[in-house]
Amino acid sequence: MVKRLEFTHPSLKGKLEVPGDKSISHRAVMFGSVAEGETTISHFLEGEDCLSTIDCFRKLGVNIEQNGTDVKVFGKGFTGLSAPSEVLDVGNSGTSIRLLLGLLAGVPFDLTFTGDESIAKRPMKRVVAPLRQMGAQINGRDDGNLIPLTVKGSALTGIEYELPVASAQVKSAILLAGLQADGETTVIEKERTRDHTEKMIQSFGGHISVDGLRITVRGGQSFKGGHITVPGDISSAAFWLAAGAIVPGSEITIENVGLNPTRTGIIDVLREMGADMDVFVDEKAGLGEEVGTITIRYSKLRGTIIGGDIIPRLIDEIPIIALMATQAKGQTIIKNAEELKVKETNRIDAIATQLGRLGAMITPTDDGLIIEGEQSLHGGKVDSLTDHRIGMTLSIASLLSDGPVELENESAISVSYPSFFDDLERLIN
Ligand code: S3P
Repeated sequence: MVKRLEFTHPSLKGKLEVPGDKSISHRAVMFGSVAEGETTISHFLEGEDCLSTIDCFRKLGVNIEQNGTDVKVFGKGFTGLSAPSEVLDVGNSGTSIRLLLGLLAGVPFDLTFTGDESIAKRPMKRVVAPLRQMGAQINGRDDGNLIPLTVKGSALTGIEYELPVASAQVKSAILLAGLQADGETTVIEKERTRDHTEKMIQSFGGHISVDGLRITVRGGQSFKGGHITVPGDISSAAFWLAAGAIVPGSEITIENVGLNPTRTGIIDVLREMGADMDVFVDEKAGLGEEVGTITIRYSKLRGTIIGGDIIPRLIDEIPIIALMATQAKGQTIIKNAEELKVKETNRIDAIATQLGRLGAMITPTDDGLIIEGEQSLHGGKVDSLTDHRIGMTLSIASLLSDGPVELENESAISVSYPSFFDDLERLIN
């Protein structure tokens, strides 16, 4: 499908709430499924990725009622899951497969994971290797690096593991396996990554100890279901923050957005680039997750250098940050972001080639991008390459282009933001 995007001197104005956080929505279903009793979830992200997680748990015998953004999970406890009669298909979702590999490595039955063409290229060894150290039996192409992967449920033993990559998915997979392993499991992070798994273990009544970058869980824990309100996804809000900052005449307010400090690198970058922005944190937020309101207004931005331990705090926002940088005064350099190569697409290449088609001057490097500022963009044919965040970045770019943008594979956007174009229409003046 091709979407034609054509705007004449738009400005974006108004207030909105973005859909629920993808990372938290996945985890809410996972913990709800292995908890005892019912879990109700509101403001669940009804995006394809999180629906894949629901689908996997239904195949594991968990009764889940989903009504739009309201979800009810009838938890079975860790021991109540049953052997699936079908393959577990995670679609496009890296979070589903990596976390489920950990969560299900210790169940007493066998299962097989598959996914779409993008997942088929993404590395799973980063999760499989530590899980094997714990005793998991996981096999697949390229020595268990690529789907389809089969898990032969087996008894696990706790390990101490130093993460070679800054990845919340790998950290979470090991912690989830550790919850069923014999003894204690410790993960030592390279850099702090999103800590939703840690927070959710606590809000479901479990125990976890966090000492700097050292995180420990013990096995044999059980969880109790409850109610979860998922905050808006800051990674989705990022598209409006960027649009508000770079589209002349704009002013956008985003309410009820998650402001967990492990996710707010985009706010730090906007401040560094000189954005006109107010951020209010709501004291009453639940789940141990900060929630608040951000207002952003158009202003002239300046280029910056982004690298080091901020990268995991904004890894998913780099495509839209790159677009902002094309409008800033001066050059922007993004480094230490080699993880971009193993996202839904190779995002270093995708950003450079697709924004390049609209006239941006972006040089891909081994670990990031060099972006020239003050670029005027023109219309053209671009492709999301089936990557939701590339698709949304190109759609926001079309607001600045002086001709129509034809976006191929726009449907990928529904992976994390099914109502993206409705919200865009609502904000356009
Ligand atoms: C996620 C972690 C990140 C992020 C992804 C969601 C999570 O991936 O890019 O969108 O929910 O744990 P990595 O762990 O590969 O960095």
